Amino acid sequence: MRVIAVDGPAGAGKSTIARLVSAKVGMPFLDTGAMYRGIAFAVLRDGVDQNDADAVGQLARLTELVLEDDALWVDGADATQSIRSAEINSVVSVIAAHSPVRAEMRDQQRLWISNHNGGVVEGRDIGTVVFPDAILKVFLTASPTVRANRRVEQSGGDAVHIAESIAQRDHLDSTRQDSPLMPAEDSVVIDTSEMSIDAVIDVIAQLFKDAESRQVQR
Ligand code: CDP
Repeated sequence: MRVIAVDGPAGAGKSTIARLVSAKVGMPFLDTGAMYRGIAFAVLRDGVDQNDADAVGQLARLTELVLEDDALWVDGADATQSIRSAEINSVVSVIAAHSPVRAEMRDQQRLWISNHNGGVVEGRDIGTVVFPDAILKVFLTASPTVRANRRVEQSGGDAVHIAESIAQRDHLDSTRQDSPLMPAEDSVVIDTSEMSIDAVIDVIAQLFKDAESRQVQR
């Protein structure tokens, strides 16, 4: 399957960059973080215990997620704005650590990519677990200060509080048992701290071109 995997921690520039790469290479974009956020939304909506892996897994299987461009619909309700709230930020990494939830999200992500004939997929475990055969895997990082500042520029809020929230999510995401946040062995790690968006896009587009021509030669 023709997949570009874009993984990395919060605020490393994944969303902006993966969207622009998708436009540049003409492949659809899948935001897998929005899917986990959609399940967190359903958990809060239904008052399910966020620590109960089986109950949240069951809810994940029953919840209908529809991703359309930049919008997310959860059981027919537009959740595009609500999934970016501080409340969802504090729940999403807890529910994303549950194996039954991850199994369901992985299935849905693979189906989405198969229905769309490939894509640029943004997440935490795309290159390591969901699409280990991706044509290109990039892992975007940036210093914690840069990441927190980017989030403040994007959505406002208090810098200290946002830095804490990101650090807490990073910790949960990288220490969980099931598909923790980490670069795949064959990924290209790009530190975006001092790079412009255009420069990162150019690097990825070139890597993709090289990877595709290697595939053709095989
Ligand atoms: O946009 P941001 O980087 O802040 O986060 P996101 O991509 O929307 O992902 C939100 C959360 O979903 C992450 O902190 C992870 O806990 C979880 N997630 C995951 O576990 N696996 C993925 N493939 C994508 C997101």
